[in-house]
Amino acid sequence: MSLTIALTVNGVQHEVALEDPRVTLLDLLRERLDLPGTKKGCDRGQCGACTVLLDGRRVNSCLALAVSHDGAEIVTIEGLATEDELHPVQAAFIACDGFQCGFCTPGQIMSAVGLIQEGHAGDDPERIRELMSGNLCRCGAYAGITEAVLEATHTLEQSDRKQAA
Ligand code: FES
Ligand code: FES
Repeated sequence: MSLTIALTVNGVQHEVALEDPRVTLLDLLRERLDLPGTKKGCDRGQCGACTVLLDGRRVNSCLALAVSHDGAEIVTIEGLATEDELHPVQAAFIACDGFQCGFCTPGQIMSAVGLIQEGHAGDDPERIRELMSGNLCRCGAYAGITEAVLEATHTLEQSDRKQAA
């Protein structure tokens, strides 16, 4: 049996025939849509390496069945930068040394983008640590990650203010 679902990923529409209804969104992104930026760490919802935005909300794509999200809009790490410019969260991770090996970084960045969009980041490092606690980093780059989220929050707030002026 083959089911076809429609997804918009990073602004591009796709129709994907699923041979197996148990395929996860993570495997579909990596293996069918050729988007390997989203990482597979634990494959069981414990590490956050597979975080993407699904209809604007942060999800662990290893726990999401693709078939349940027909019509969804997804943003992955590949969808953040423009041709000329990194997303402010990506730039902040570089500026603040928010990674070492980089394996957890796509998930950390997508999680940070999600929580800033949700308006939850604020300027309290403790709160940011709590809101990012679903994303594990085996290298222990947490200090730089928290700093990067604070910096990106500030940058995005400033750019919102400029746009509103
Ligand atoms: Fe999805 Fe670890 S790979 S939470
Ligand atoms: Fe290596 Fe986070 S930078 S796991």
